[in-house]
Parts: sequence; structure tokens; C-alpha cells
Amino acid sequence: MIKPLIAANWKMNKTIAEAEDFAMQAKKKFAAIGRDIIFAPPYTALYAVGKILKGSPVHLAAQNMHWAEKGAFTGEVSAAMLVDAGCDYVIIGHSERRTIFSEDNRLINQKVVVALKSNLKPIFCIGETLEERESEKTFDILRQQLQQGLNNISSDDIRHCIIAYEPVWAIGTGRTATPEQVEKAHSFTRKVIGNLHGAAISDNIPILYGGSVNPENVSGLMSQRNINGALVGGASLDIESFAKIVGF
Ligand code: 13P
Repeated sequence: MIKPLIAANWKMNKTIAEAEDFAMQAKKKFAAIGRDIIFAPPYTALYAVGKILKGSPVHLAAQNMHWAEKGAFTGEVSAAMLVDAGCDYVIIGHSERRTIFSEDNRLINQKVVVALKSNLKPIFCIGETLEERESEKTFDILRQQLQQGLNNISSDDIRHCIIAYEPVWAIGTGRTATPEQVEKAHSFTRKVIGNLHGAAISDNIPILYGGSVNPENVSGLMSQRNINGALVGGASLDIESFAKIVGF
């Protein structure tokens, strides 16, 4: 049985002071919660939030990273720098990175490989666009993203990965996928990973859903067998609403 995992992706929101304030409240609220929680603040607030969360059940994630170890990559941040700032996790392949910043499966795969080598656990995002869903390509797209994005990852390493299914049409739109739609995509995802690495491994990989998750829809989603948690955007910015989601 996979412990429920709720992750907050703050995207490009919150100053250092706002992030610290949120982290202090969260540390108190979640001290005894039997759930895994992850915060992904913007780069500028990582270190400050990590210092506050030390010793709490809340872990730190970055929202992105560069694949190179170091060097002349103006504006980029390496995996080692994220570890140095206190991160245990890193979101890789978010649809906003794929669409706005043109990241493709090959580049995303490079990042997953480097993250794992650097002892960062990837929160690897997949998901189809509305057009792909309407033309019944959802499963082909998910299969391709999984096979290419997780290419050359050993069965030993895949155990450290978290998958986040985030249908692009449900992100920030208020249009949540139904629990049944998500369950279908998650069980398909588990099958694809099972074909690559065996059911014993695939059955233990957390698969999160992301896309307009809120306090009202979270329990319906979490009642599905293959939905192990949520990756929350907008509704994670307010401590009260995020706490309701964590306590679903
Ligand atoms: P929203 O919850 O705002 O739809 O964002 C989801 C998301 O992209 C989390 O990574």
C-alpha cells in the first residue's frame, strides 16, 4: 500500500517572506500527519523553506533543473545545486516546461537520468493535450512520454521515481478530470512501467494526479485504486485550502 503523497507546486509564486510564512504554518499543521508532503517553491525560496522544514514530514522539491553538472549555462540551476539547497525531489517534464519552454522527451530523459545520479527523486510529469484526448491519442501519448522519458532508467532507479499524470487540459482551467478518467490513465501508466520493470516494482511507484485539484474534489480522486496522491498548483498557494487537501 502506497502512503498518500500530496505535493504543492507553487510555480512562479511567493516571495521568500511569503514562502517562509507558509512553511512555518505548515510545519505546525502537518507535524503529526501520516502522509507524505512535498513543497516545490520557486528557486529563490528553496533554501529558506528547506531550513524551516528540516525535521518535519514535509520534503523539498525544485520545479525544474538543468541536465549539465555545471558550466556556461546562464540562468540555469544544476542538480547538485538543488541538493545543496536542501532538495530531495525535483519536478521534471511539467507540461508548462514542455509547451512554453519546448522541452521534449529526449531532454526530459536526460534530466531524469542526471537527477537520479545526483540523488534527487524525480517527480516525472506526463499528460495529453485536449486535442490529443479528443482524437483518442491519450494512451499513445502517455506510452511515448513514459518510454522515452524513462529511457535507460534501471529497475533499481525507477523505484525512486514518482509519476505525475497531469492532463494539460485540466491544469489551471478549473476543469478536473473525473476520477474514472484519471484511474484509467493511472492504471495504464502502471501497466507500461510494469512491462518495462515488472509488476513488483510498478505496483509500488506513486502515481499522482495534477490538474485543478481542490478541497472539494480531492477525496473522490483519492478513492481510486491507482491514484496515490496529488500534485496541486493553484489550490496549494493558500495554507487553509492546501491543509484541507492534505487532510482529504
Ligand atoms: P492547478 O492545480 O493549478 O491546475 O495546477 C496543476 C499543476 O500544474 C501542478 O503541477
